[in-house]
Order: sequence, then C-alpha cells, then structure tokens
Amino acid sequence: MTKKVYIKTFGCQMNEYDTLRIFSILRRMRYEKVVEPADADLILLNSCSVRQKAEQKLYSLIGRLARFKKKKKRLIIGVGGCVGQQEGSLMFNKSPYIDFVFGPHTIDKIPELLKEVEENHKKKAFILDKSDPSCLEITPFPELIEGIKAYVTIMQGCDNFCSYCIVPYVRGREVSRPSKLIIKQIKELVEKGIKEVILLGQNVNSYGLKDNNELTFPQLLYKVNNIEGLKRIRFITSHPKDLSEDLIMAFKDLEKLCEHIHLPFQSGSNRILKLMNRGYTREEYLDKIERLKELKPDISFSADVIVGFPGESEEDFSQTLDLIQRVQFDQLYSFQYSPRKGTKAALLPDEVDPQTKNKRLQILQAMQRKISIQKNIEKEGKVVEVLVEGRSKNDINELTGRTRGNKIVNFPGKIEWIGSIKKVKITKGYANSLRGVLV
Ligand code: SAH
Ligand code: SF4
Ligand code: F3S
Repeated sequence: MTKKVYIKTFGCQMNEYDTLRIFSILRRMRYEKVVEPADADLILLNSCSVRQKAEQKLYSLIGRLARFKKKKKRLIIGVGGCVGQQEGSLMFNKSPYIDFVFGPHTIDKIPELLKEVEENHKKKAFILDKSDPSCLEITPFPELIEGIKAYVTIMQGCDNFCSYCIVPYVRGREVSRPSKLIIKQIKELVEKGIKEVILLGQNVNSYGLKDNNELTFPQLLYKVNNIEGLKRIRFITSHPKDLSEDLIMAFKDLEKLCEHIHLPFQSGSNRILKLMNRGYTREEYLDKIERLKELKPDISFSADVIVGFPGESEEDFSQTLDLIQRVQFDQLYSFQYSPRKGTKAALLPDEVDPQTKNKRLQILQAMQRKISIQKNIEKEGKVVEVLVEGRSKNDINELTGRTRGNKIVNFPGKIEWIGSIKKVKITKGYANSLRGVLV
C-alpha cells in the first residue's frame, strides 16, 4: 500500500534540492506526494533558520498542522533542515506535535527515524555535528525534476563565518563533491531532457580549493560547458572575496554560461563590512563589478543586502544606497538584520531599533524598484534569447521562459517550443518580468 507524504520547504535552493533528495528516499519506501496536508500520513517540514522570521513561520505552521493530528492519530510530523540541525531534540520541548527531527546531514536516516516512530512509538532526533559527505551523494531521481532546468549541488557547508550568519553552524564545514560525479550527474540529467543546470553551493567560488587533486570552480565550468545537449549554465552563490579573474574570464569564454551573477554585497559601508567579517571592501566589490561589465557589457547583477546590522549609522546606510546606485542591480534581495543565537554579531552592542530597520528597508526597496523597472524598460525593442520553460501561469496561450540575464519573459507561442531557445523581441518591460513576441 502506498502512503502519502506532504513536504514543505523553507529557505534556500540547497533546501529545495534536499527536499528532492528526501522525496527520493521516501519514494523508495512507497510514499507518494500530496498537495494537501489533510491527505497526508506523513508531514515533513524542511526548515530554514537563517532569519528569525523563517523560524517563526515554521513553528506557526506546526501549530496549524496540529489539528490534523487530532483528527488522524497516526499522522507523523517530522522536521528536517537547518532548524532541525540547530535544535535537535530540543524541538520536542518547543512543540509536542513533532515526532522526529533530522538535519541536512542525516537525510539518509529518515527510514530509521520513521521506523522508530511507527513501530516503537518513540520520538527521536538524529543529527550529526559534522557534515557527512556521503549524504551529499544522495542524488535526487532525475524523473522527480520538473521542467527543463535542474539544480546540482557541487558543495556543501560554508567556512566563511560572516558574523551575522548561522549557515556555517548548521551546514557544517565546506565540502566539495568530486567533479567526476558532478559531470556524470549532469550528463544523466541532460539525457532526461534537462537543458539548464544551476550549480549550487553557499560559496561556489571556493569549490575544490581544499583539495589539490580537484578542479577549481572555473575549471569545473569549462568541463560542464563541454557537455553535449546542455544549453545553459548558471550558479549560485558567489562570494565577492573569492571571485577570481579566472571566473571573470569564464564569463567571456563559455558560450553556455549565462550573463548573470548573484553577488551578495550585504553592505556598502567598509566599517560594517569589516564587522560582518566579509573579507572585502566596497572598492574591491565595485572593481569586480566594473571588470565584469567591461568584459560582458550586457551582464546582469543580483545580490543580497542586509539593513540594520548592529551599529549601522545613517552614514553607513547611505553608503549602501550609494553602492546600489552605482551597480544598478537587476534584482536585489533585501533583509532586515536579525540576530542569530551563537553567531558573533549576536553579541555586538548597538542593535538598530526595529522602526529604523524597517524605515531603511522601505527606502532601499523603493530605490531598487525604480532601478528594476528602468532596467526592464531599457529592454523594450531589443531581441533576446529565451529558453522556453513552460506555459505562462497567468495566460495558458502564452509561454514563459528566461533570458540569459535571468529575466522572465512571457510571449505567445506553441507548447512544442518548451525546452528550445527562441529569439524574442521585447515589447514591454514591467517591474518583475518582460513581454515579447517571437521574431
Ligand atoms: N551563502 C550565501 C547566502 C546565504 S544566506 C552568501 O554568502 O551570499 C542568504 C542571505 O540571507 C544572505 O546573503 C544574507 O543577506 C541574509 N542573511 C543571513 N543571515 C542573516 C541575518 N542574521 N539577518 C538578516 N539577514 C541575514
Ligand atoms: Fe553565511 Fe557568509 Fe557563508 Fe554566505 S558566505 S553562507 S553569508 S557565512
Ligand atoms: Fe536557510 Fe539553511 Fe539555506 S539556514 S538559507 S536553509 S542553508
């Protein structure tokens, strides 16, 4: 008999990818996915602890799911991901509805945990202090990947210890996957019809650097570029301090590598960057951006930025706004700082009050909105290459896809075009997308 699982993912792409792995394990155990938690025998929450908000969302969801437990006595609730890793068995004290807890390094222990709950009626947490490279080798079933693009993990963990960030504590030390396995996996994905791969890691720029026998990240990109049938390559995330000249050259040399880079800067103030332990100055950041623009004039940029880091003054904040004006990002993900237990920044004095944080975020987002719209309007009249991903959500007669610069384009077309690259003339630029017609 098949059983039903409802899985919800919080947080970053690494977690989305882990959810595919989790489901690959469950499918072997004859579970099928359902979209309504009410229909499930097992509810799995793959959690994120990067900001306070993400963690709060998790607990409020568990509270709401509790009513299903009252109706269905045998319903099991498991929590994985970074909150699971951080809290372990303490989670049982925070919510009586949780039956088992695991972390990003113990995904393979899910069958054991389920057995413990089902047969022995015991609550259990199973987490590891260290990252476990064998867990990295649980690759998702290719057929679970929907559409024409796929994420591929190339490394796990992070050794950067930015002072505000919980990731190095929950994801553990940086470990790179063997390049041979990465290439093999991408080839298999391409055979199944995947056209675009997005290489994943907290800091892909430092891929392979700890192992003399391994390729560097730019070398890996050259290898991936040679895979026949693959059309596009992207990667996230890059750390500005490790963005090498070799990687910049890869953008020039590799025809499959798309002209877009996500390069979080976090703050435009050197004083704050130092307190954040980021390892670069605003000048170094801007130089790298200039160099990329020089080699690839149509490259697009996105980034993450934090407002309200402890001690951030009006002057520091205006430096952040100034950097945003200089770079002209296509897209910016902006966050209010929230202290995370166990990180260095959580001990810093001068926390910025919530009203100021909120006001700064509003100002920053209003500025960015104007830039994003302006950038999209500039595309009007231009011809772009769109890799068609599927039907548009808003209009079934339209297709949706992305430009090499990672912009969403909607245009009228035929279903048979899904998976191919089409030349599209842009007719209108909106805040978050473009419209066009086939050339
Ligand atoms: N490895 C990636 C991003 C990891 S987390 C990188 O280094 O760029 C994603 C984003 O969350 C970060 O870039 C940062 O902007 C934000 N973030 C992390 N910790 C935070 C905190 N304590 N408060 C607010 N935002 C935070
Ligand atoms: Fe966190 Fe910094 Fe590592 Fe990114 S590089 S995951 S922000 S510690
Ligand atoms: Fe969140 Fe963990 Fe990713 S804390 S951002 S899910 S690495």
